[in-house]
Amino acid sequence: MNILLIGSGGRENAIAWKLSQSKSLDKLFVAPGNAGSSRFGVNTPLDPNDHPAVCDFIVSNKVDMVVVGPEEPLVRGLADAILADKRTAAVAVIGPQAHGAQLEGSKDFAKAFMVRHDIPTARYRSFTSANVAEGEAFLDELRPPYVLKADGLAAGKGVLIIDDLAEAKKELRAMLDGMFGSASATVVIEEYLSGVELSVFVLTDGKGYVILPEAKDYKRIRDNDEGPNTGGMGAVSPVPFADAEFMRKVEDRVVRPTVEGLQKDGIPYKGFIFLGLMNCGGEPYVIEYNVRMGDPETEVVMPRLQSDLVDLFVATAEGRLSDETVKVDPRVCTTVMLVSGGYPGSYAKGVAMSGFDAVDSDSILFHAGTKSDADGRIVTSGGRVIAVSSLADDIEGALSRSYRNAEKIKFDGRFFRHDIGQDMIRIRDQRAAK
Ligand code: AMP
Ligand code: GLY
Repeated sequence: MNILLIGSGGRENAIAWKLSQSKSLDKLFVAPGNAGSSRFGVNTPLDPNDHPAVCDFIVSNKVDMVVVGPEEPLVRGLADAILADKRTAAVAVIGPQAHGAQLEGSKDFAKAFMVRHDIPTARYRSFTSANVAEGEAFLDELRPPYVLKADGLAAGKGVLIIDDLAEAKKELRAMLDGMFGSASATVVIEEYLSGVELSVFVLTDGKGYVILPEAKDYKRIRDNDEGPNTGGMGAVSPVPFADAEFMRKVEDRVVRPTVEGLQKDGIPYKGFIFLGLMNCGGEPYVIEYNVRMGDPETEVVMPRLQSDLVDLFVATAEGRLSDETVKVDPRVCTTVMLVSGGYPGSYAKGVAMSGFDAVDSDSILFHAGTKSDADGRIVTSGGRVIAVSSLADDIEGALSRSYRNAEKIKFDGRFFRHDIGQDMIRIRDQRAAK
């Protein structure tokens, strides 16, 4: 089987690493990939939004399956384009068509879907500039903090959480006036949920599904969850509070109703569903859907997945997922993200990196923003640079491996959080003490 994997981040490195271990894999192309993905496949300069070019590539390289890492190409109809081209219509695509991708591409669509299918989520209403006064009145009804979300894709920045009512009203108008371009022409206002977040990953063929290991992500730039939001500074899997009882609630109240809801609505869907959940006193609520895997969560999910990923994808394409079970490594996986100085604000690119040879086999390096320069040396090329993932019997063991090897990768401005997983250690110990 020849596979084309779309994407260039740590998530795609982790997927490529896992795919490359499959006996069913012949050739892996990663488009565009990065300095790390060339260890697992052939990097290929392809623009995922140039649909004819992608279809031509599939034909000329005898690609049997396309795995789409990020959401944007899906929202922009890459899967639809591959299915619509007679030459590529039979190629398996892991990732939904544009209709299903609206679960992530439009918060208003996702909220209406959840309400329609009785899936627990925060109470909400959507507003445009035509009914901004109603939006202000809705804010008057809610208690702080106020949650304002741009309806469309806003590169992870479209959610504002505001304590002050007058400021929330001001920001509502600013969003509707184009703060996030057309993405905030519609704004979802919703109730604030307090609790601990976790990410749950589902692979579905539209009828059957499997649930992959869950993970906890660390979004803020600095220790103790301070500073601005980032794409994610580290992750841990499993999540101590996601015990059998909690996960049964997640499956019964969220996963199954979501897959059944897609069927009822006539929305075909073959791919990942990432549930951003809030654990509110033991009850799962959906904060968001994503139509892809998480990053850096994938960097802790893939090392724990013992099942063959190519086989799971083939079962997805053939609609046989209800017959599949996933085998999961019971050990803990942690990842620590090394980022460029200044991230998530502006940062330098092309910074020389060293220390790769010193990293021992206790960790796996998943490259995110790296590339090979003209002389073949690895340099930085993004805000999030490398995820250092490690497995061990407990969180402490995995963290000590990740941090030991994280220290060895050097580049000017390198920054990382030092408290990844500490809250999970506390939660685990509190539960054990009960
Ligand atoms: P989203 O893009 O919808 O995941 O929102 C980004 C982040 O904002 C989430 O990861 C949460 O930390 C936070 N958030 C979003 N919606 C809510 C909510 N209703 N209550 C509390 N926090 C929220
Ligand atoms: N780490 C969160 C995300 O991938 O959206």
